[in-house]
Amino acid sequence: MIRFTLNGKPVSTDLPGDTPLLWAVRDGFALTGSKFGCGMGLCGACTMHVDGDPVRSCSTPLSDIAGKTVTTIETVGADRVGAAVQQAWQKLDVVQCGYCQSGQIMSATALLQSNPKPTDADIDAAMAGNVCRCATYVRIRAAIHEAARTLA
Ligand code: FES
Ligand code: FES
Repeated sequence: MIRFTLNGKPVSTDLPGDTPLLWAVRDGFALTGSKFGCGMGLCGACTMHVDGDPVRSCSTPLSDIAGKTVTTIETVGADRVGAAVQQAWQKLDVVQCGYCQSGQIMSATALLQSNPKPTDADIDAAMAGNVCRCATYVRIRAAIHEAARTLA
């Protein structure tokens, strides 16, 4: 049995340790906001926070999560920074099809939690692993700056 904290609650699962965290969360705990894109750690659609760091949950085995704290898009808005990011996303109308956006918001939130005043270069570096097929990159960058302003 693997125990960890998911969105503030202690949980456990009997799934095999090599089960990707993404599938454990989506299928085992019915939290479907984190998306499957590439399954190989290349697109960022599945991004969650593990102990505050953004991770690609499609490529993270459950065995690596034991005893750790996982946050998903479903509760990231309970955090002050996560809420500011989501509000900036809405204000600037960032989303197009939406498929990549939960991962984008998780990466953007992790960036602002560790770096409250990121430069364009900081943003580009932190967000480089999050692919958007609708090419919303310009609005994403603007929304991160907007969230940083509101948090200052
Ligand atoms: S689905 Fe995880 S990085 Fe693409
Ligand atoms: S909004 Fe469509 S893939 Fe990013």
